Amino acid sequence: MSIHLPGTDRSETERLRGRIAETLERARARTVGLVECVDEAELVAQHSRIMSPLVWDLAHIGNQEELWLVRDVGGREPVRADIDELYDAFKHARANRPALPLLNPREARDYVGTVRDKVWDVLERSPLRGDALVSGGFAFGMIAQHEQQHDETMLATHQLRAGEAVLTAPAPPAVSAPLHGEIVVPAGEFTMGTDDDPWALDNERPAHPVHVPGYAIDIAPVTNARYLEFMADGGYDRHELWSEAGWAHRVEAGLASPQFWQRDGGGQWWRRVFGEMRPLRPHQPVLHVCYFEAEAFATWAGKRLPTEAEWEKAARFDPATGRSRRYPWGDTDPTEHTANLGQRHLEPADAGAYPAGASALGVHQLVGDVWEWTSSGFTPYPGFRAFPYREYSEVFFGGDYRILRGGSFGADQVAARGTFRNWDHPIRRQIFSGFRLARDLTPGEN
Ligand code: AVJ
Ligand code: FE
Repeated sequence: MSIHLPGTDRSETERLRGRIAETLERARARTVGLVECVDEAELVAQHSRIMSPLVWDLAHIGNQEELWLVRDVGGREPVRADIDELYDAFKHARANRPALPLLNPREARDYVGTVRDKVWDVLERSPLRGDALVSGGFAFGMIAQHEQQHDETMLATHQLRAGEAVLTAPAPPAVSAPLHGEIVVPAGEFTMGTDDDPWALDNERPAHPVHVPGYAIDIAPVTNARYLEFMADGGYDRHELWSEAGWAHRVEAGLASPQFWQRDGGGQWWRRVFGEMRPLRPHQPVLHVCYFEAEAFATWAGKRLPTEAEWEKAARFDPATGRSRRYPWGDTDPTEHTANLGQRHLEPADAGAYPAGASALGVHQLVGDVWEWTSSGFTPYPGFRAFPYREYSEVFFGGDYRILRGGSFGADQVAARGTFRNWDHPIRRQIFSGFRLARDLTPGEN
């Protein structure tokens, strides 16, 4: 049993308070960057029917922060009790949001600013211990993750908008020869999920043992060059490579390449990257593919997508200690050398560009670059308890979703732990999605 001196406790709490403030500020700086670079007309416009107007995301970020931190944790009076319904994602489909009587851009900016000012006061006064909502700063961490998740969604809206480029960032690291190959993971148990990560969301809990049969997993995500081979081999035209649902979607949607790809008269492929046409980078992980495209590619390659447990074991299991790590490289926060996260670059880095981010099992780029489709649906872990609201995870369990893991260049580290679970419909590809391959072991390999 450890003895805590009162002074030590106090400085630990102050350190946590500082970390919370920094994390909330990082999220807000990103939100501001994503809304201040376009004019008012673009903020209220619908850039795609599957996305909200940017001004909806902005006020929704403020409204969630108000609900949880101002009203619930802070016990304060509402800032705007009249707008909750407008910003409830379950009340209005994205396609219908532009027609709502939304706050205009100036009102939305004022609103999020007023809410944040109150939150600084709530944070100052919170003991950051006690009930599960405030203990370890959970509610603050949850709200920072919520804002960053919407910042990634807003980044996807930027990718869909027409017109000149407005976002810029340095190019991600490149390699001269792409990393390829696979890692064999012998059969065995590992700990999936977590109990002790204070900001882990409900669906990542509880930690539980999972026996994973032996498998092999690719050391890096599938690259554009490999994906072009699939296309050149008639991948989009060969019904036998696609699942029934996948083929039906492929035909109906007229899929013929990843989203945002264009071929010029000379046969060279280009990619539209936030409003700018760029030549396809051959060693870059393929981006903007849906689950069905990933699945067809895997069949063509004679492999399959990893299950969610296989992905997490590759990312977290340390065979030397038997423990599961927080991130592939260890328990320390990501840096610019370990993962392409946080919108520091606006594209995935080439396969092999982050050797310092490899997992204990030797698998690269699991966190950062692209969200990776897995073959698993979204289901609760054994012992799951919805917290603090059913609408974050529970209402989506068992639906038409596939799990994506690892976070993209557009995701922030606060929402890209090795245990973090994302999910989307298998037809979606405006998200920053790619994939890697896995396979069963052949007899004798195990
Ligand atoms: C976990 C990314 C699927 O964007 O729909 C945002 C995150 N939940 N607001 C989503 C979320 C509530 C969620 N995903
Ligand atoms: Fe939300």
